[in-house]
Amino acid sequence: MKNIKIGLIGLGRIGLIHFNNLKYQIPYAEVVMVADPRHKEQFKGVVVGTAEELINHPEIDAVVICSPTNTHADYIDLCAAARKDIFCEKPHDLSLERVITTLETVKKAGVKLMLGFNRRFDANFKKIHELVNLRKIGEPTILKITSRDPGPPPLSYLKSSGGLFMDMSIHDFDMARFIMGKEVEKVYATAAVFTSDEVAEAGDVDTAVINLTFMDGSMAVIDNSRKASYGYDQRLEIFGSNGMAQADNNKHDSHLLVDQEGSHGALPLDFFMDRYEASYRLEMMAFIEALLKGEGLPVDGHDGLEAMLIAIAAKVSVDEKRPVLLKEIRNTIRIKAL
Ligand SMILES: NC(=O)c1ccc[n+]([C@@H]2O[C@H](COP(=O)([O-])OP(=O)(O)OC[C@H]3O[C@@H](n4cnc5c(N)ncnc54)[C@H](O)[C@@H]3O)[C@@H](O)[C@H]2O)c1
Repeated sequence: MKNIKIGLIGLGRIGLIHFNNLKYQIPYAEVVMVADPRHKEQFKGVVVGTAEELINHPEIDAVVICSPTNTHADYIDLCAAARKDIFCEKPHDLSLERVITTLETVKKAGVKLMLGFNRRFDANFKKIHELVNLRKIGEPTILKITSRDPGPPPLSYLKSSGGLFMDMSIHDFDMARFIMGKEVEKVYATAAVFTSDEVAEAGDVDTAVINLTFMDGSMAVIDNSRKASYGYDQRLEIFGSNGMAQADNNKHDSHLLVDQEGSHGALPLDFFMDRYEASYRLEMMAFIEALLKGEGLPVDGHDGLEAMLIAIAAKVSVDEKRPVLLKEIRNTIRIKAL
């Protein structure tokens, strides 16, 4: 089988993870060129070029976009024009109109676009998804997702991130759709700043509770914080007519100490780099496999758009202190896009 030749844009926190997986872990993937203004000429034996050189490189089959969010849509458009398949980190872009136009461009060009919702490939959440699909808990009615970071990112990242809902909760919005297998009708969110003045300075929030109501009336509640003092807290519970299923945190080890003061165990893994290490490898393997076999993608541009609509509705809900129908957000795009 021939290798899929890859160009990778952006070698920061997430770009390095994907680079190492593609270069050292994933069969039939070959990194031909990378682009990042912080690196010149060579990076770990791979040629460095500009993003434009990379996208138009005749040997490259697919481009992996890991640069800051505000660059994604431009690179997606250039990739579509160059007929390159695309893996793009979440979110697509911060503008809904821009996302719609890139989706249209990608469709017209006939290229593939996968979004980086890696948590779908995590063993815990994949298992819960499987149990729900097998109807092991009957009809799911309440989903609870806890998703808390160990600490807020730097101010510079926050400023270009699109805010808590678009940057962080978007993973949970995708997870809610993935686990429930249903579309969201209504969003009601409350949010505040508790961790640092920098978050408020960036015009953002760091703590939120988001209620989602699905089309059939079933519900999800998501709680997010940018700062959990005990590590990266990633748990989920789903309740249904015949039972419930839970996914707990992955910890540094599984020891249990019991003494006069109580029971003690290890803390959760530190952050996304260690907690979701395997899921990043598996999602990229799924991307390469889909390209090799010419099959559909497990997470695509439509999933990115749906999660983004929920993120926008959550922001409107906080700003206007009211429940927001997703239909309202969809209608605004239709009006403006026509
Ligand atoms: N799926 C996930 O779990 C996950 C985790 C972290 C970040 N992300 C997403 O990945 C993207 C990058 O986040 P990060 O945390 O790696 O950021 P980062 O700041 O650590 O890295 C960004 C990199 O892109 C480079 N860069 C800047 N402008 C560029 C340009 N115009 N062209 C090419 N490269 C450029 C920077 O030099 C830097 O090396 C964001 O969209 C973020 O939302 C996803």
